[in-house]
Amino acid sequence: MTTRRKFLVSSALATTAAMLGMKSIFSRSETPEKKVIKINTVRKPVVISTWDHGIAANEAAWKILSTNGRALDAVEQGVRVTESDPNITSVGYGGLPDRDGRVTLDACIMDENLNAGSVACIEHIKNPISVARLVMEKTPHVMLVGDGALQFALQNGFKRENLLTKKSKKAWEEWLKTSHYKPVDRNNHDTIGMIALDNNGNLSGACTTSGIAWKIHGRVGDSPIPGDGLYVDNEVGGAASTGVGEAVMRTCGSYFVVELMRAGKSPEEACKLAVERILKWNMKYNDLQVAYIALNKNGEAGGYAVKKGFQYALYADGKNQLIDAKYSES
Ligand code: GLY
Repeated sequence: MTTRRKFLVSSALATTAAMLGMKSIFSRSETPEKKVIKINTVRKPVVISTWDHGIAANEAAWKILSTNGRALDAVEQGVRVTESDPNITSVGYGGLPDRDGRVTLDACIMDENLNAGSVACIEHIKNPISVARLVMEKTPHVMLVGDGALQFALQNGFKRENLLTKKSKKAWEEWLKTSHYKPVDRNNHDTIGMIALDNNGNLSGACTTSGIAWKIHGRVGDSPIPGDGLYVDNEVGGAASTGVGEAVMRTCGSYFVVELMRAGKSPEEACKLAVERILKWNMKYNDLQVAYIALNKNGEAGGYAVKKGFQYALYADGKNQLIDAKYSES
């Protein structure tokens, strides 16, 4: 390559990197004879989500991402699959109710411009993530709760539905026999959190849950709170959590993960440090499980959990896979 051509290629790469905001992944050897430009590959599109129900959700998200769609649309459509599945008892329709037999749902969405929308303790709406998106896009607010959220949804054309399936009702009636109030002892089946990076290099995230089964009516967990259950900063990356929301809320979990990535940690390292922050405080929750997933601007993804059993679904390089996360405690 002639010196002039080398210079042009170098400049073009540097300009592209600058345009993409890739400062942190751009490095240059200053050897005068041999100027080497190294740009780490930005892998995209990518979508990551929590638990095995993430596989089907990723498929729906991938349809949008692989046709150059927007990450925001991908995460919304992705988690709607989980919300709509009556067999998933921790999210949306079919979610286990609170101790009064009421199915109350929490959801949050964030786009690439730090816009956020959420609903908490909403009843009778099968896809709360879409109400959260509407809150984000059509109101000057971030969060609507309870009756106000339901009223807003109905006014905007959402259908009022009974979300308590036969299966969930039966489980609740079984629980009522003892009414043993030990609401934080679930594992392996929980919130769906999803982060996507689209072909334009933009990140978005969504998180939706029916929360902890048999909770006190009105209890709201981490999932609808930006910075707790979900956080996306398009300059850095996004993170989402699953597990005992109270522990996540006390440590501002997803925000912490994103800030750790900003400070140079890989997604997995960042998730591990956020888990360790919880463990350091020796929080007294029964059978504590919390897990994080994270995806950075380069398309690198990872997850980490308090204990064994957490899996996340990662769709990247054309493959949708379930991955066993590393963990701190057995
Ligand atoms: N992470 C879901 C919840 O605690 O509600």
